Amino acid sequence: MTHALVGLEPRRVEVEAHIQNGVPSFTIVGLADRACQEARERVRSGIASAELEFPGRRVTVNLAPAELRKEGSGFDLPIALAVLAASRQVPHAALERHAAVGELALDGRLRRVGGVLAVAEGARRTGLERLLCPPESAAEAALAGVEPVPVRHLADAVAYLRGELDPDPVPAPRVPERRASADLADVRGQERARRVLEVAAAGGHNLLLGGPPGTGKTMLARRLPGILPALEPDAALEVTRIHSVAGLLPPQHPLIEERPFRAPHHSASTAAIVGGGPGLRPGEVSLAHRGVLLLDELAEFARPALEALRQPLEDGFVSVARAAGRVVFPARFQLVATTTS
Ligand SMILES: Nc1ncnc2c1ncn2[C@@H]1O[C@H](COP(=O)(O)OP(=O)(O)OP(=O)(O)O)[C@@H](O)[C@H]1O
Ligand SMILES: [Mg+2]
Repeated sequence: MTHALVGLEPRRVEVEAHIQNGVPSFTIVGLADRACQEARERVRSGIASAELEFPGRRVTVNLAPAELRKEGSGFDLPIALAVLAASRQVPHAALERHAAVGELALDGRLRRVGGVLAVAEGARRTGLERLLCPPESAAEAALAGVEPVPVRHLADAVAYLRGELDPDPVPAPRVPERRASADLADVRGQERARRVLEVAAAGGHNLLLGGPPGTGKTMLARRLPGILPALEPDAALEVTRIHSVAGLLPPQHPLIEERPFRAPHHSASTAAIVGGGPGLRPGEVSLAHRGVLLLDELAEFARPALEALRQPLEDGFVSVARAAGRVVFPARFQLVATTTS
């Protein structure tokens, strides 16, 4: 079992494998996208590399519920395990108590995917207490309150489920040394501009800094996150969830406790700024959620990108339309823009 993500929302996905006599084949049904269909090749060679046997019969994998679109490569591990359980190489009973997520390399090693925090939260809500995942995702899964079972290789996952191997210990999250973030104390003079930044920080106001070249607009804007209050624990988890889906978390200390600061280049596409695109990733406005979005040289940004900022600025979220409905990402940020006069 695993979970698919709709935006940031985990939805339970049952992975079933069925093996029949017939011409050897491997089919995945259940609205799997391209990356997910490609799981067939990775699973096949992953199983061979783990010195297990890929059944030489008709193998059908069903990802249920069928109406939910399944995206990405995180289904590789649950698919491989379902095939191995259906061919009696992994005990069924053990598998039922676990959720699993991870991409398989062709040599059977596990690779990290985005969104593990939300998947782990889904597993916990469904009453599954253990999540098989790549070691780099273990600290992230632990944030959700599930017990991660870090496995390096498909062979290790199988050995663990057979009761032949104790899982690797979960690496203790390293406390990040506080980034020497840009400090307002470094600014010389500029009493008024500093006061403006402080008022904006206290009141959560958006800000437009204008002035001639070289007067420190960019430098001042970068110093806003440093004077904002730290994130509350719930907010930290929410921000972490967004960055997790975007695949941006550092594996060692995945929890984001500092206010995000995002400064997209003015050539960034509308999709990059507000989110969406084929992978349906959160955009810069969502990555800046509860932090600061700097649009340096506002006038250089493309008009559609600026117009797309209206919804997040007014509502604090973006809804990204797609064929099968829409997903909503939070996007409540403080906007700082600069213009050169
Ligand atoms: N008040 C100040 N105290 C310390 N350093 C400053 C100050 N004002 C400007 N600087 C320094 O001057 C340089 C130019 O500043 P910055 O790039 O922020 O200017 P800008 O207003 O964004 O210019 P442009 O319009 O060309 O983008 C930076 O290296 C910055 O650190
Ligand atoms: Mg500048």
